[in-house]
Amino acid sequence: MKKMLMVSSALALGLATTAAKAEPQAEVLHWWTSGGEAAAVKVLMEEFNANGGTWTDMPVAGGGGDAAMTALRARVLSGNAPTAVQLKGPSIQEWYEEGALGNIQDVADAENWDELLPEAIQYHLKCDGDYCAAPVNIHRIDWIWANASILEDAGIEPPKSWDEFNAAAEKLQGMGILPLAHGGQAWQDATLFEAVVAGLGGTEFYKKALIDLDMDTLKSDKMVEVFDQMRVLRGYVDDNFSGRDWNLATAMVINGEAAFQIMGDWAKGEFIAAGKEPGKDFYCSSPTGGGYLYNVDSFAFFNVDGDDRQAGQKLLAKLTMGKNFQKVFNLNKGSIPARLDVSMDEFDSCGVQSNKDLGTAIEQNALLPSYAHGMALRGAQAGAVTDVVTAHFNSDMSSQEAVEQLAQAVAASQ
Ligand code: GAL
Repeated sequence: MKKMLMVSSALALGLATTAAKAEPQAEVLHWWTSGGEAAAVKVLMEEFNANGGTWTDMPVAGGGGDAAMTALRARVLSGNAPTAVQLKGPSIQEWYEEGALGNIQDVADAENWDELLPEAIQYHLKCDGDYCAAPVNIHRIDWIWANASILEDAGIEPPKSWDEFNAAAEKLQGMGILPLAHGGQAWQDATLFEAVVAGLGGTEFYKKALIDLDMDTLKSDKMVEVFDQMRVLRGYVDDNFSGRDWNLATAMVINGEAAFQIMGDWAKGEFIAAGKEPGKDFYCSSPTGGGYLYNVDSFAFFNVDGDDRQAGQKLLAKLTMGKNFQKVFNLNKGSIPARLDVSMDEFDSCGVQSNKDLGTAIEQNALLPSYAHGMALRGAQAGAVTDVVTAHFNSDMSSQEAVEQLAQAVAASQ
């Protein structure tokens, strides 16, 4: 009898301890599987575990996150949402509207997020005025990455406009060098397209075309020119590009098999993971002029049961915005911190330029949320644009035909 009592009071004590101090758990769905990406996400995993949490990794390979988003939908539909999910832009609000997201305003209040984040990006992270996602970075999309020794041997400066890019590519082609490493996946075609829209059309054109979906702009002569440039770019790509992953295209530039890649600065993460230095082994330049095309990676927190998982969400939200984490993660990832108060001293020249151009773009109202990376449009509308962009890039469709299809597809998606 006595023994039983002792056992049950020990059990009761154990339960009480568990209830009082839930062990933070997080199952984290993301698509950071390339060398640079994996090195970056490992920083968060280690910090989470070092702070008493247990991280269950759920990586879903596939650049741009299309496969990850399909996996997410399946999990939510089966009533078993992951604790934290890499999400961006309007898809955060779409999940919120479906009633799937929790709220992390208490962490944001305690940590002062409104003071720490650029006002211009806060709206991406809020649902009905409260924070529902925690940002890890700001990625710039409109970059041209170049192999330094190829450019030096050819006497070419890093291009700063599409005209300069075309001139450089023609010269390289004449020398028998592959100008452009490109991965043939729809989101990568879309990444080229938005950089061309911003560079050829300028900031206002980009906003009218890919944020407002203004019909006159979508059907304009300028948009015909944009598709002409896409056709020119297609001519600089090798025959084996179809289906190629973005990081394999980056590897072609790293290894000197191609001169350039046009890609967001997660590509820099690959150069860094390969031990390469900007200004010495590779160059970064932007073809956009005053604008700045960006996306913000963040974690959104789904409604989950259990004190341990809810504690995991709060811990993850707090660590994600931690000052040291924002530095170390972004040194690996190729992006820059979302927090304003992180020193750029340890960042390389591309990171410093990104940070400076971001500031200028904010001042000049030239910040351009990426349509290709889910920051500007809702899913159906972005998909409509990408379908036409990729159909054009992978066929001999004329620019005129592409513009007409674009207008029709966008109208049908509204
Ligand atoms: C972007 C994402 C980056 C990187 C890239 C390639 O959409 O914002 O963090 O993962 O896709 O997968």
